[in-house]
Amino acid sequence: MDSLLIKGGVPLHGEVQISGAKNAVLPILAATLLTSEPCTIRRVPDLSDVRFMSQILTWLGAEVRADGDTIRVRAKKIKGEGDYDLVRKMRGSICIMGPLLGRLRDAKVSLPGGCIIGARPINLHLKGFQSLGAKVTIENGYVHCKARRLTGAAVFLGGRAGSTVLGTANVMMAAVLAEGVTVIESAACEPEVTDLANFLIAMGARITGVGSPTITITGVKQLHGAEHEVIPDRIEAATYAIAAAVTNGEVTLRGARSDHMHAIFDKLKDSGVSTHCNGNGIVVKRGGRLKPVDITTLPYSGFPTDVQAQMMALMIMTPGISIITERIFESRFMHVSELSRLGADIEIEGPSAIVKGGKPLSGAPVMASDLRASAALVIAGLAAKGNTQVNRIYHLDRGYEKIDVKLRQLGARIERIEES
Ligand code: EPU
Repeated sequence: MDSLLIKGGVPLHGEVQISGAKNAVLPILAATLLTSEPCTIRRVPDLSDVRFMSQILTWLGAEVRADGDTIRVRAKKIKGEGDYDLVRKMRGSICIMGPLLGRLRDAKVSLPGGCIIGARPINLHLKGFQSLGAKVTIENGYVHCKARRLTGAAVFLGGRAGSTVLGTANVMMAAVLAEGVTVIESAACEPEVTDLANFLIAMGARITGVGSPTITITGVKQLHGAEHEVIPDRIEAATYAIAAAVTNGEVTLRGARSDHMHAIFDKLKDSGVSTHCNGNGIVVKRGGRLKPVDITTLPYSGFPTDVQAQMMALMIMTPGISIITERIFESRFMHVSELSRLGADIEIEGPSAIVKGGKPLSGAPVMASDLRASAALVIAGLAAKGNTQVNRIYHLDRGYEKIDVKLRQLGARIERIEES
């Protein structure tokens, strides 16, 4: 398994190009299953999760061709069953269910398990499919959704932690080909859901209210092929912004969308980090001394759970006490024990982490447990004195395009150690 070796203490300087958003491109690729006509998706990041999704589409019968950051898919004839060995590799693959149910009225997909960040149930997705008239059964580890007719309905997707991102995507993708009008209440408002809706609209779907908690979908008989450019990844952009702040550097995020990042930039500002747009992108640098901040993760437009771990890496560098409360996933603090190995002082109290920041960090070997936890370890390694080796970086490769190359371009001393 590959690892990253980081020699910390170098301020990052320069420009970094932000890639297409992982959490937008995965459902968008799944949506290409809704039509037999060719679709072209641009600004696709080169990630292992994208390669898994391409393999799943191919397995289902679609033709998938990648050319640089463009993927062309033609799902002329497809089957409705997602293979266990492929689907289990990536939880995001659950979003093939909506398109398969919409197009074939029959979808059988291996039930995704929990993962390191929490239980991750799909009850809300299934409730949505049932509201549209599907019969849902679970057998031998597979969830089977079948409908003679799919009929528009009122669907409420609010759950314990607010709405569901992929649940909203899934119900929307099934409803675009249902008969009549579907109204999703408590829909997810994340920009990635809006991006998917914009692709569906380009394919001929009739959707209004995207970006708000009420999405209305009027079913159409069929969709046609379309072209789409994926939005830039706000989580990747936030990760480089925080890396610039911890190293006391100055980085320009090229291609990032500040309108998707209000909550992140607001907290960075409170912590003494300034962001402003110039002709090339968003410039991030420290305005003075770092200040402690309290953060609670919330659905969009609140502070994203996917930036919680990286923000903790900034808070451990900040003198004073910061409290970080995780409200979306119940066990998303796996990075805490590894950050402690670098010298961080953090205590967990229920859903909150109490960070006593400002202690000196020194490099150590650490183990990545999930995608964003890995990013936090890289950021802390960039700030720590000495060498940090981040092991098990296949998590990082799932969601960050060429992170070692991009950081090196910004001046970081980082190298990938490939294990044969
Ligand atoms: N939930 C339910 N029932 C459901 C679905 C979700 O109770 O049927 C709960 C979850 O347990 C969680 C909350 O609702 O407490 C939110 O989960 P959500 O369904 O929104 O998460 P997701 O759609 O499975 C996506 C991203 C995650 C990101 C979350 C929250 C993709 C592929 N994944 O997951 O991204 O953290 O939304 O914003 O889009 C990551 O990129 O590192 C990542 C984990």
